[in-house]
Amino acid sequence: MSNKAYLEIGGERYEFPVITGTENESAVDIKTLRASTKIVTIDPGYKNTGSCESAITFLNGEKGILRYRGYAIEELAKHADFLEVAYLLIFGELPNGEQLEKFLSDIRKESHVDEEMKKIIDAFPRTAHPMGVLSSMTSALIAFNPSSVNVSSEEAMYHAIVRILAKFPVLVAWTMRKVMGLPREYGDNSLGYVENIHKMMFRHPHEEYRKDDLAIEALDQLLILHADHEQNCSTSTVRIVGSSHAGLFASLSAGISALWGPLHGGANQAVLEMLEAINEDGGDTAKYMAKAKDKSDPFRLMGFGHRVYKNFDPRAKIIKKAADSLLDDLGIEDPILDIAKGLEKEALEDPYFVDRKLYPNVDFYSGIIYRALGIPVEMFTVMFALGRLPGWIAQWREMRLRNEPIGRPRQIYIGANERPFVPIKKRK
Ligand code: CMC
Repeated sequence: MSNKAYLEIGGERYEFPVITGTENESAVDIKTLRASTKIVTIDPGYKNTGSCESAITFLNGEKGILRYRGYAIEELAKHADFLEVAYLLIFGELPNGEQLEKFLSDIRKESHVDEEMKKIIDAFPRTAHPMGVLSSMTSALIAFNPSSVNVSSEEAMYHAIVRILAKFPVLVAWTMRKVMGLPREYGDNSLGYVENIHKMMFRHPHEEYRKDDLAIEALDQLLILHADHEQNCSTSTVRIVGSSHAGLFASLSAGISALWGPLHGGANQAVLEMLEAINEDGGDTAKYMAKAKDKSDPFRLMGFGHRVYKNFDPRAKIIKKAADSLLDDLGIEDPILDIAKGLEKEALEDPYFVDRKLYPNVDFYSGIIYRALGIPVEMFTVMFALGRLPGWIAQWREMRLRNEPIGRPRQIYIGANERPFVPIKKRK
């Protein structure tokens, strides 16, 4: 491909460089567009806009490829654990044994969340959505760790990173325990990172913690699959908030809010609620397929379609297999899984879905695993946030280290032209 692009406006011809990434993706570099032509581009939803150059995650939606720092998601899901993947995403390389040990030990030193934070979580009504609680608690954490805001050195950045990796799982566990009416507890620094998360979430107040290898393994894998996905809605939010130097925790809190929506991370909750509704409605999948295709009906088949994947979502493939084997190992027969499989089969044969390249995404099967693990449905998106945390951190760190400018898009104004002010008595 040529390394130049040309644009003709009003008889003038302008030249722009074309940049190419390490996987041969190309982009027209329009940094000088407005200065040289006085016009801007418009691209609602940023479907054609690259917001940054990034060395963290590569995905090819046509071929169904997803790699973190060059490593295939299939290999990482099979061989790595979540903390190794977090290190890889944030610092660029897989850690050796010593590096991983130090990382975990630094995280453990920060694993305490101030007792006062319990008063904040207690003040929320029991019915509050866990994503709202998590976002608020992440923001509230700033008040107890003010030195994590102004990160002017890599060392300060590292401290902010280990601090949030340590405290965020505590917030997640407290959020779930509040939903379940259980006391808010701390973890155990002698346990592994995900094992400790499992303990904080599930330990019954009157019993010793019982390690559950199957559950920990399933959780670990799900967290890895959610760990990063390049410039999606919540990650772009984290980068744009961080670009004002608002601080890591504030950027993450905004990212959590962005993830909450049903078109993004909130889809996992929406999928399960949809599958339950179909089940209660007698399992009539055809009825819901028809609703999804009816343009006068706002209903969408949740867990289907993706902005980038137009062939298949490699994460969905892994999760479907994992859901099957976990339910099998636990001896659970869940009618919801049968409905999900039935819907998937129908959709993959239906011209509406085939023509629009709509395939099951990561969230179509993840809820079935969360449900089998005993996690309440309103907590599903919180679990997505827990998995996405290292990705958000890595993207925020990259943005700060590259000294990226503040994110500030332009617009094309389509409102009223200048008009005189009308006093209230004269208004119609
Ligand atoms: N059910 C029915 N129709 C759909 C669906 C769906 N799930 N998704 C897309 N379409 C149709 C849409 O109506 C449109 O049809 P037409 O061309 O006739 O107007 C066409 O497919 C293209 O859809 P779009 O909304 O322009 O595509 P998008 O790239 O803007 O949206 C999406 C991607 C994920 C928001 C969308 O597919 C969707 O709403 N899916 C359901 C929600 C979901 O599962 N979200 C989780 C995404 S994966 C987790 C994550 O990373 O966030």
